[in-house]
Amino acid sequence: MSLEKQSVVIAGGGSTYTAGIVMMLIENQDKFPLRKLKFYDNDKARQDIVAKACEVIVKERAPHIEFISTVDPQEAFTDVDFVMAHIRVGGLKMREKDEKIPLKHGVVGQETCGPGGMAYGMRSIPGVIELVDYMEKYSPNAWMLNYSNPAAIVAEATRRLRPNSKIINICDMPVAIKKSIADILGLKDEKEIVDRYYGLNHFGWWTEMTDRQGNDLMPKLKKHIKKYGYAAETADDNPLSAEASWMDTFQKAKDVFAVDPETLPNTYLKYYLYPDYVVSHANPDYTRANEVMDNREKNVFAECERVANTQTAVDTSIEAGEHAEFIVQLAGALAYNTYERMLLIVRNNGAIANIDQDAMVEVPCIVSKRGYEPLCMGTIPDFQKGMIEQQVSAEKLVVQAYLEQSYQKLWQAFTLSKTVPSASVAKEILDDMIEVNKEWWPELN
Ligand code: NAD
Ligand code: G6P
Ligand code: MN
Repeated sequence: MSLEKQSVVIAGGGSTYTAGIVMMLIENQDKFPLRKLKFYDNDKARQDIVAKACEVIVKERAPHIEFISTVDPQEAFTDVDFVMAHIRVGGLKMREKDEKIPLKHGVVGQETCGPGGMAYGMRSIPGVIELVDYMEKYSPNAWMLNYSNPAAIVAEATRRLRPNSKIINICDMPVAIKKSIADILGLKDEKEIVDRYYGLNHFGWWTEMTDRQGNDLMPKLKKHIKKYGYAAETADDNPLSAEASWMDTFQKAKDVFAVDPETLPNTYLKYYLYPDYVVSHANPDYTRANEVMDNREKNVFAECERVANTQTAVDTSIEAGEHAEFIVQLAGALAYNTYERMLLIVRNNGAIANIDQDAMVEVPCIVSKRGYEPLCMGTIPDFQKGMIEQQVSAEKLVVQAYLEQSYQKLWQAFTLSKTVPSASVAKEILDDMIEVNKEWWPELN
């Protein structure tokens, strides 16, 4: 039986991840066939760089797909089945501010964690809501699969502002960690692993991992993680593409694991459990945003320009990684009713029994044409419960601050982050953040 062809719009067409997703879509024409592929962005010049290369790739490898690149919302969002979103409101230049301002005050400066993540959340909310509204206006039956960060705060905002919209917020970090775990255990790939996991986005723990035959993988894994974190035993066995800063994060998982050796942690927990280590190892003048601008952004755009200039992509270095694989697999599960098990960010609603039902949690879900059905992870221990409740409250306060334009609530949110030592430091960071976010945030009262 032939599969019904899909129409997809990638929102944030100018993202450094777009070309990778296009490669993955093209490689998956047998499993997820396309009739149309559109790009949408609010920065035409930036999107054009990626679009000119992707036009060549599509023409060369899958000419049956109609390709459109546009900055017109109506053209972009009309007649689509899926919106794959990954926008960065304020761009990498504002990410740099999110990272450097907290560091200046001796606090973790991170894209999605702590005050930097909250500042980014205040920028992202209106951008993502605008995309949801375009989708509902022009293609009310479509699904939006959203990577735009900070996914936890964006998810809470969509729950509050558009509770009935067909948006699924997602993260590729658990998949990336499971890829490393598969390598560590010598499994073919991460799809061999069946997991139980609970938490928030960038804030969760695995309680179980088995292979598809049901064999427990945890004892061997725990032994490895205790020594090496999620890094390989010898440096040569780590992926060639692994950057030093990410390798450090994978290694640091060893110390995060030590705090609760019953579970396996998400790597992002290092920012909450070892903020002192993170700050003392950061360079306040050159943060991850600088690394990304100097490497991924530069390299992806240079390759896109090369492909566009030569009008061929036969030898292109653009690759589809796990990031692209996960979003395309999710779209496939929704379109073709595969009932696959995937970690998604959804309303708790009982999935974690002893925390707020309205929290947006990250748990395994069964995905099919009916949408997603979260699996119940049961009651969680006090350590994780305490951490999660503090973090959920901080994330909820950011969204309340946005909705009420409340300085007080945003100050409370910053103060409540486990990365921030006091209300006075929170206030200093907040005041600096207000200054640089004038163009993006609502005015706070
Ligand atoms: P990027 O800056 O290279 O790309 C983002 C694109 O979004 C830009 O082309 C920009 O012009 C566009 N954009 C910004 N605001 C917009 C708006 N309001 N409407 C339409 N387009 C808009 O960023 P990147 O490094 O490629 O990352 C893209 C996003 O994906 C970020 O939010 C990043 O955090 C997120 N991300 C999330 C995950 C995850 O696990 N959830 C993984 C990887 C990346
Ligand atoms: C992981 C996380 C994303 C985050 C990204 C940052 O993939 O899941 O949420 O955006 O890392 O990566 P970068 O290379 O931009 O620092
Ligand atoms: Mn993520």
